[in-house]
Amino acid sequence: MQTAVVKIGKVTTCNNIFLAPMAGITDIPFRGIVKAMGSGLLFSEMISAEGLVRDGRKTQKISDIDEKERPVALQLFGGKPESMGKAAEILSATADILDINCGCSVKKVLKSNSGAALLKDLKLFEAIISAVVKNSKVPVTVKLRSGWDKSSINAVETAKAAEACGAAAVTLHPRTRCQAFGGTADWNQIALVKKAVKIPVIGSGDLKNEADVKKMFEETACDAVMIGRACLGNPWIFREVIYFQKTGKLREKPLLKEKIEIIKLHGEGMAFYKGEKAGMLEFRKHLLWYFKGMKGLRHLKPLVNSLETVTGLNKILEIAGKGDLCGQMM
Ligand SMILES: Cc1cc2nc3c(=O)[nH]c(=O)nc-3n(C[C@H](O)[C@H](O)[C@H](O)COP(=O)(O)O)c2cc1C
Repeated sequence: MQTAVVKIGKVTTCNNIFLAPMAGITDIPFRGIVKAMGSGLLFSEMISAEGLVRDGRKTQKISDIDEKERPVALQLFGGKPESMGKAAEILSATADILDINCGCSVKKVLKSNSGAALLKDLKLFEAIISAVVKNSKVPVTVKLRSGWDKSSINAVETAKAAEACGAAAVTLHPRTRCQAFGGTADWNQIALVKKAVKIPVIGSGDLKNEADVKKMFEETACDAVMIGRACLGNPWIFREVIYFQKTGKLREKPLLKEKIEIIKLHGEGMAFYKGEKAGMLEFRKHLLWYFKGMKGLRHLKPLVNSLETVTGLNKILEIAGKGDLCGQMM
């Protein structure tokens, strides 16, 4: 398994192990941690084109970028070519890449003809990609699912359409909208898309460790992979996969002390970036992911579930860092 740079339009990434876009997760603090772990390209949470055009404060914050994390792809969703075009103009002033979400399976998003709903309406799909490409100063990528349902698999068709509309790369998470996150990702669809287009293809779905990543590269010939759920509470997976690519060997897991330092850094970033209380409320779920499998977690849970301050976080980390609880957990 070779590490390789990927050329996405005018952007060249330093490797081919990317962070998947995840709503409510891939914000600036988390992306900062994943960047430090070596990921070659970071995808933001999805950003509403309508919200952005209406200039909502929350939407603006979600589209912020920290200079240190570049290259970063900001992901847009929307069902109207006009607002997607306007949003592309706004976001491409700061983003390195714009990504269009054509895969979200959440009902609220589908209702506005956005996300995976676009896979059912190729005219609108093409109009949206063309509007974003036309108004963007940076390369545009498109994130797909394999189709709406198992009787309408159309990943090859949508990938080719995206390429024809000017997309500089496509990502495929090969589950249908109706599958949501159930069953398994059909990597064969990634291989078919790779054969069908000339632009880089990024594979997504069910990558849990070094062996999975190696297998996806081998089975699909994709140009890059994206890691999603497996990095929750486990951001060091990026450096482990990259190390494996370079050496063929498994990298040691970080020691408890380093894990606690990383968790602390992540938590402090949340407090700094979102405000102490809001940041700590949001950080509770990350802490539970970091501590998953920990023997004795039930003793820490009440503290995690009432976390509101950085002082409270430090107290939790002090307990977790003692090793007895954590030694078995991590
Ligand atoms: C909590 C969560 C939020 C997600 N949010 C987005 C999103 O905003 N945009 C998107 O294109 N995909 C989103 N995804 C899908 C992931 O990017 C990825 O394609 C999918 O989880 C499969 O990869 P995995 O098996 O590595 O998690 C989300 C997934 C999860 C679990």
